[in-house]
Parts: sequence; structure tokens; C-alpha cells
Amino acid sequence: MSKSDSALAQVQARAGDAPVALGLILGSGLGHIADMVAGEAFDYSELEGFPVSAVSGHSAKLVVGELWGMRVAVFGGRAHYYERGQADAMRVPLELLKALGAKQVILTNAAGSFRADIPPGDLMLISDHINFSGLNPLIGEATDARFVNMTNAYDAEMRARLEAPAKAEDISLKSGVYSWYSGPSFETPAEIKALQILGTDAVGMSTVPEVILARFLGLKAAAISVITNMAAGMGSETISHEHTKSMAPIGAAKLERILRRYISG
Ligand code: HPA
Repeated sequence: MSKSDSALAQVQARAGDAPVALGLILGSGLGHIADMVAGEAFDYSELEGFPVSAVSGHSAKLVVGELWGMRVAVFGGRAHYYERGQADAMRVPLELLKALGAKQVILTNAAGSFRADIPPGDLMLISDHINFSGLNPLIGEATDARFVNMTNAYDAEMRARLEAPAKAEDISLKSGVYSWYSGPSFETPAEIKALQILGTDAVGMSTVPEVILARFLGLKAAAISVITNMAAGMGSETISHEHTKSMAPIGAAKLERILRRYISG
């Protein structure tokens, strides 16, 4: 018996049991895509085992239905490690996604950039990650399945399928390495310098635990960062959550065009 069994029964009772092809997890300021799905919406608070997330800019609901001709499950918001100290906060939602029949998941997030050629308002396709937090959502998992192979965690085929629509839409989509910083405080400039030496291209407070969980569950994963600021000490803007929320819609509009082609193509 999996922890997501009750949520699965709740979702299928209203949304039906036709398999979904794809899951989408939306980051800060990107939740509006959930409103485009024609289907059934569930507040996280009504789904058993779901995290209760209260980060402003995140709309904590799951919508299962049709988006641009594909049956999808869209998670309008995520719970972060920094909310309650749980690295596996998104385990039940991802288990549910798998149980709904999905084979792949696309994650999005807001992030700070290290690269002048990926400025605020741009998108970055995540090619790999560095788990700078040292945390892991599989700590406590007692089966050998916990020893997850993280080579090709960001699926090469999915990445190529995301790059093509970006090109067709003339949207810059450079690839880079994303580092997970636990938050909720932002990084210091010294931490950013250290992360840069390690090979970071963008930093944020999410996605890495979910990709680990997705690979654990056998879901293919890809992720795109919406760059909202230059990382601490690298730009002139003042980094804040308000700034993240105000910048996210610029990248979100581009993201929507890429996802539309990915899904309908
Ligand atoms: N650091 C961490 N998380 C973020 C940032 C950042 O600079 N920008 C948006 N989310």
C-alpha cells in the first residue's frame, strides 16, 4: 500500500482513470498554466498525504485533464524543503503522478543566474544538478531502490524535444547546471562564488529533490529554470521574493510557448 493510494482514489473518482501522459510541476509565479487545463482541480489540502504549501506565488492545486490535446496532471505549486524541513515533501504527489500513468515529468522553477548570457527574463534548460544542500529525499527509504542512478537524470531525449520548440519560437534556451540551495534565505555572495567554482550556472531552492524522487519512481524528468535575477553579488538588483514573483511572468510567457509546442507537437 502506497501513501498515494487514497489520493489516487480521490483523483480518479472525479477525473476518471484514463492514464495521463505527462506531469508538470510549476514554480514560483508560473502557476497560471494550471488554469489552462480543462479538467478537475484539487486543492492540495483535500488530497490525503499531500503537503500543505503556503509560499506566496504558488497556487497549491493539482489539475488533471486536457492541455493542448494531451491528458496531463499539472501541479500548480510545490512544497519546498525549507517550509517544514522535509526533503521528501513532494514524494506523495510524484507517487500519485506515477500511479496516474505518467511516464515523464517536466519541472519548472525560478532561479538566480550565474551567466551573463542567461540574464533575468531568460530560461535555462537544466542539463544536470549539484546537490549543494547535502539533503536527500530518499533518506529513510529502506529498499535497495534508494540507490538511484543519477546519470542522465535530466533526460537527453526530453531535453532535445524541449530545445526544438524553443528554436522554432526563437526563444533562447541555453543549457546549464542547477544547484540546489536549501533556502529560505538567499545565498551570500561568498556562497555564490563557491558555487561558481563548483560549476553552477543557476541556483534555486527546489527541483533537485523532486528529480531524485522522479528517477527513484522511474519517471523521466526534464526541468527548466525561469531566471528572475542574477545570483547574489553578480548583479545590481536587490534579490527578494517580491522581485522573483515580479520577474517570473516574463520567463513564464516564453515557457508557455515552449510547453505548448512540446505538448501539442
Ligand atoms: N537564489 C535562490 N533561489 C532563487 C533565486 C536565487 O537567486 N532567484 C529565484 N529563486
